[in-house]
Amino acid sequence: MTPTAAPQSLTLLRPDDWHLHLRDGALLRTVLPDTAARFGRAIVMPNLNPPVTSVAAATAYRSRILAALPARSGFMPLMTLYLTESTTVAEIQRAKESGIVHAVKYYPAGATTNSENGVRDLQAVYPVLAAMERWDLPLLLHGEVTDPSVDIFDREAVFIERHLQPLRQTFPGLRIVLEHVTTSAAVDFVESAGPRTAATITAHHLLLNRNALFQGGLRPHHYCLPVLKREQHRQALLRAVASGNPRFFLGTDSAPHPRDKKESACGCAGIYTAHAGIELYAEAFAGIGALEQLEAFASRHGPAFYGLPCNTDTIRLERQPWTAPASLGAEEIIPFRAGEEIAWRLVDKTGTCEMTSGL
Ligand code: NCD
Ligand code: ZN
Repeated sequence: MTPTAAPQSLTLLRPDDWHLHLRDGALLRTVLPDTAARFGRAIVMPNLNPPVTSVAAATAYRSRILAALPARSGFMPLMTLYLTESTTVAEIQRAKESGIVHAVKYYPAGATTNSENGVRDLQAVYPVLAAMERWDLPLLLHGEVTDPSVDIFDREAVFIERHLQPLRQTFPGLRIVLEHVTTSAAVDFVESAGPRTAATITAHHLLLNRNALFQGGLRPHHYCLPVLKREQHRQALLRAVASGNPRFFLGTDSAPHPRDKKESACGCAGIYTAHAGIELYAEAFAGIGALEQLEAFASRHGPAFYGLPCNTDTIRLERQPWTAPASLGAEEIIPFRAGEEIAWRLVDKTGTCEMTSGL
């Protein structure tokens, strides 16, 4: 039997990014073209400083994103609210009625970048979660405990046990997305939790295990939260995406920080992947012979969970290595694989290379 040749090009329904950090101001203008060239829509994280806690702030942020878009871009930002212990039920109702807010994001206080205003006691926001369940507004979870006595590599698994299981039982109708899952515990939970629980998976957690943090020395550009895990967990994520289960979908968690904030004695968490936001997934899926699952993961499962239509246009990828830029913008964002090869390339319909901010 001759093995089927691996495909050299792919046409996909345009994908969406269900977890993205776009930042604001000059940084927003640097990074937005990369996402807009690839994705139709993105769920935009609200962890600005100060955070986006009201519909009014989300509306203003959305206008700034639309104003920063390249000409003729059809990209649509899908806004989120940042949950605090002061969020009111009335704000949740306003969010639902606004039509522009698609979810509410829970950060445990102190878990990650700009999370100081996050929630200390999950039970304190139960009335707000009840309102979200009633109005069917999804809850997006940064699923890690912040308890300093819990080992950093166990914080996702402990969050699931301590907080997510009771939450799931208390609000059976609430749509929940466990964001950027990194462990087999998270995969097992999502697989067994029923149709109202889903998860996003990043490309970097599919491509790297925790050795990448210490490859020949300390690698701050591989530091993100949740932190990279052991190989056995990466394998569990790969099995989840290859399974075709519709409750796993694409969320890059592309999280740009200026170079000096990463290369520092106390460096920020976050990996910038938007410059190759779909190409890196193609590489991960090709690596396990699962390219036939990529379109559903990137373009169909997310809209189905959020109750939105799929995009109608397509993008084209070719297996044609290119070198990622060494740095992007005045902020010197160091992208994933800076100066190194990425196996797949986004091309326009005539086969020429699509512009990215770094080229
Ligand atoms: C994110 C950021 O920089 O905003 N960082 C990260 O490592 N993923 C925050 C987050 O999603 O945890
Ligand atoms: Zn994030």
